[in-house]
Amino acid sequence: LFSVFFIFSVFLAQSFKQDEEQVQRSQFPDGFFFGTSTSSYQVEGAYLEDGKGLSNWDFFTQIPGKIADDDNGEVADDHYNRYLEDIELMHSLGTNAYRFSVSWARILPDGMLGSVNPRGIIFYNKLIDNLLSKGIEPFVTIHHHDLPQVLEQRDGGWLSPVLREEFVHFTSICFESFGDRVKYWVTINEPNMMAKFAYLKGLYPPAHCSPPFGNCSTGNSDIEPLIGMHNMLIAHAMAVEMYRTFFWPKQNGFIGIVAHAFMYEPLRDEERDRDAVDRALAFNVAWTFDPVVYGDYPAEMRHCHGLELPRFSAKEKQLLRGSIDFIGVNHYSTLYVKDCIHSPCPSGGDRPIMGFLNTTGYRDGVPIGEPTGLDDFFLVPRGMEKIIDYVKQRYNNMPMFVTENGCTLQTQENELEDGDRINFHKSYLASLARAIRSGADVRGYFVWSVMDNFEWINGYTKRFGLYYVDRETLERTPKLSAGWFASFIRNNSHND
Ligand code: NOJ
Repeated sequence: LFSVFFIFSVFLAQSFKQDEEQVQRSQFPDGFFFGTSTSSYQVEGAYLEDGKGLSNWDFFTQIPGKIADDDNGEVADDHYNRYLEDIELMHSLGTNAYRFSVSWARILPDGMLGSVNPRGIIFYNKLIDNLLSKGIEPFVTIHHHDLPQVLEQRDGGWLSPVLREEFVHFTSICFESFGDRVKYWVTINEPNMMAKFAYLKGLYPPAHCSPPFGNCSTGNSDIEPLIGMHNMLIAHAMAVEMYRTFFWPKQNGFIGIVAHAFMYEPLRDEERDRDAVDRALAFNVAWTFDPVVYGDYPAEMRHCHGLELPRFSAKEKQLLRGSIDFIGVNHYSTLYVKDCIHSPCPSGGDRPIMGFLNTTGYRDGVPIGEPTGLDDFFLVPRGMEKIIDYVKQRYNNMPMFVTENGCTLQTQENELEDGDRINFHKSYLASLARAIRSGADVRGYFVWSVMDNFEWINGYTKRFGLYYVDRETLERTPKLSAGWFASFIRNNSHND
């Protein structure tokens, strides 16, 4: 008994040591990007300024009960007017990259049937030029959840193939206007998350769901996420083809796509739970990346969904295959999964396709570790190394970026003294450094987020920022984590 206890303690000490391992800037390659991420609706505000049209989020947030405190992004961080100050914040952190998104409704208030709003173009030009003048590389996400409301209302949003043409038109304007200076493009942020939240869980516009997945009956939750995702993937491939045909090599940029990428572990050390891990990864991560690397959906999904999983035509497969130069991974958390997840339950119960049901309702998995603020977000640093390793193996070590990683703290008494956030980033960075030491071609790490912002259905109740934003005055104040990150980037050995 004693030796079992001894081995167990050594094992615990080892895993603890791994996560507590000191992490230093020098453990990352030269030229590595350390940046921060935001998205247009979450920070810009200025929702009707200078010719911007209404987005689906401007519209959705007006529906009572959808957002915590019935809040919205009309003002958000007023980044639209304070972008120079915000670039100074990034500069003082010492970051060399900034990932932001373009508000579709600011550029094309009426979609492709209307004209381009020149003042929208001017704003992003100023943003890009000022970033570059401070040595900060712009990483531009073309679509991060918000689209012109007219496309939602008139066309049916991503459930309609019309959106593919609309997206290609929008991307062509982005390439034309900003592509002389932007070298890193992300076509779509987390299409996997968007498909599930908009068409399965009812949490993002147009809030479709049907029992048992949510409290509404406006959708057909079995197939709508699959259709929404199908249209987004084809839109991505069409946009990349256009870039490579008409803009490259003159613009010689890199294009990728970003997935919401949790890691999964088997709940029990049993084959059926290990199979559930394979399925969970396939249904989330590979759902996004297999089509854009190999030209088709993962076999695991086809096996489970059969005919309801849409099919790509031969032409679409060809467009999709190899349609990215890099993979973007948004990684926050790890969950345990077990046999009935993402598969017909052997006990013959319901067949929830993208999760499983238990007495607490719909879940994607079972919690591991300390909560880090949002549903299903837990502190599991080893998950970073594991998810990077999964992507590395499955996609032949193609260049990767961690396009988001961060936490919101539930119980911090003083938001400014965010030691827990520092520990979060240190332990995830140490895990990332291990993945890189094992050969993963990771080229950048972006903290979500430079400052507190509008956290979708949670409104302003969840703060992810390195800088605190006062909701009354919008004043930005550095949290302890901002100082730590700046010191880490300078490779200061006293950065703890
Ligand atoms: C991923 C999304 O891309 C971002 O918009 C969101 O705020 C963070 N996760 C945190 O939930």
